[in-house]
Amino acid sequence: MFKEKFSEGIISAKQFNREDLEYILSKGREMITIKNSNILNGKILATLFFEPSTRTRLSFESAMYRLGGNVIGFHSADVSSFKKGESIADTIRTVQNYCDCIAMRNPLEGAAKLASRFANIPIINAGSGSGEHPTQALLDLLTIKEESGTIDGLNIGIVGDLKYGRTVHSLSILLSKFEANIYFISPKELSLRNRYKAYLQEQKVKYKEVTKYRNILDILDVLYMTRIQKERFIDQEEYEKVKNTFVFNEDDLEKTKDTFKLMHPLPRVTEISPDVDKYTDKAIYFKQTGYGLALRKAILAELMSED
Ligand code: CP
Repeated sequence: MFKEKFSEGIISAKQFNREDLEYILSKGREMITIKNSNILNGKILATLFFEPSTRTRLSFESAMYRLGGNVIGFHSADVSSFKKGESIADTIRTVQNYCDCIAMRNPLEGAAKLASRFANIPIINAGSGSGEHPTQALLDLLTIKEESGTIDGLNIGIVGDLKYGRTVHSLSILLSKFEANIYFISPKELSLRNRYKAYLQEQKVKYKEVTKYRNILDILDVLYMTRIQKERFIDQEEYEKVKNTFVFNEDDLEKTKDTFKLMHPLPRVTEISPDVDKYTDKAIYFKQTGYGLALRKAILAELMSED
C-alpha cells in the first residue's frame, strides 16, 4: 500500500497521513535492529546532490548498501552536466534509465516536485532550497517516538531559522498529524512563513510563536534547535544581525525536565555549545543521525523492494 501511494516518491511531508506515519515509523523501528539484508539486491539508487550534504547523502548511500543495493550519483552541481546548462527535467529523464529510485537535493524550492513530473521512478526530496526536507522530518519523528516513547501530548519547541529552515517546515507539517503542542521560537524576521502557519491552522494544530526559549524551557519535552541558514540570506548584513540569537548551553540544560530531549538536524554552527554534548541522555542530536539511517533504510525498502 505504501509503495502504491508513494509510487511518485516522497516530495512533501503533506503526502503523509497519520496512518502512513505510524506505518513508516514502525518500519523504521524494525530497521534499527536489522543491520544488513539483501532485500534491495540488484536495485540502484541515484543520489543527485546539487547542494552540500554530509548526513542525508551518506545515510541514503549507507542505507542502500546495508540493504544489498548499489548507488550511483554526484555530490556537487559542479561535477554534473548542470554545469554545462542541463535542466533538471533532462537530468531526470536521463538518470531514470540508470536506476530504480532517485534521491535529489537542489537549491530550488520546487525542484523535487518538478523532477517527479518527468520521472517514471520514485523521486525522494533530499532537501529542496528553503522549502522542505521530508525524510529529515520523518527521522526526527522516529527519534522523538523512540526516545520519548510518544509524540502525542508532548510540548515541542522548534527554535532558530523558521523562515528558511526546510527541516522545520517538513517537521511542522508532520507534527500536525499528532496531538503535540508546538512552540515556534525565532526572531521576528525569521518566523515561520504564512503558508505553513495557514496549513497548521487548517489542521487545527495548537501552536504558539515566541521569541525566547528560556522562559519555556521548564515545560518543554523536546527542543529542536536549528542553524540560521546563512546561505539563504540575500543580504549578509541581515545574517550577521541574527546569527548568534540563540546559543543553548549547560546552564539551559539544568532548567529542563529530567526527560527533556535536545535535538538538531545538524550541521550546527554556534547554536548548541559543545559543552552540552556530554549530556547524552538529553543531548540526542548524534543519536538522531543514527535513526536517520534506520528511517532511510525503511523508506528505500518500501519504495523499491519487490515483496
Ligand atoms: N540534516 C541534514 O540535512 O544534514 P546534511 O545537510 O549534512 O545532509
